Amino acid sequence: MKQISQSFEYQVFESIHELHVTDRELLDMAKDAISGSYAPYSHYHVGAAVKLANGTVVCGSNQENMSFPAGLCAERVAVFAASSAFPGVPISAIAISAISDDFEVSEPVPPCGMCRQAIVEYEMKFNNKIRIILAGQTGKVFIFHGMGTLLPLAFHEKGLAK
Ligand code: THU
Repeated sequence: MKQISQSFEYQVFESIHELHVTDRELLDMAKDAISGSYAPYSHYHVGAAVKLANGTVVCGSNQENMSFPAGLCAERVAVFAASSAFPGVPISAIAISAISDDFEVSEPVPPCGMCRQAIVEYEMKFNNKIRIILAGQTGKVFIFHGMGTLLPLAFHEKGLAK
């Protein structure tokens, strides 16, 4: 038996104002995308902005449904829309933010497990790490270099890709 430990690194910025302008602009677009959120059940509104290698930005927001599992997170709305419109273009970055009708979202919003798996698929497809920018409504901003840090040992079966 071998015991293996893995660690990961990420950057912490005290506020959005500390970000490099290109990250701040993408985060602003994610915040703008929150206006498209349809969240009558959770009252939690998420926006995501996906930047492609050709400079195009595609945004998405969470879309809920009366049949709860039929809804979709903002991140998957955005990455699926981006991949549908630009199937051959790698994703270079994604920014995510959220607000709630009921409380202040003061911590960076990490993508849910299914969204992590959905995003890592595009890293594997293009062999290209995605910059992940996470923010709340207020407070700190986290930046990760690649989904591998947020989803170690992601499901990856080479046999299925043939
Ligand atoms: N949600 C997202 O859009 N992204 C996530 O990564 C986590 C959760 C949405 C789903 C649902 O509409 C609401 O936030 C509350 O869970």
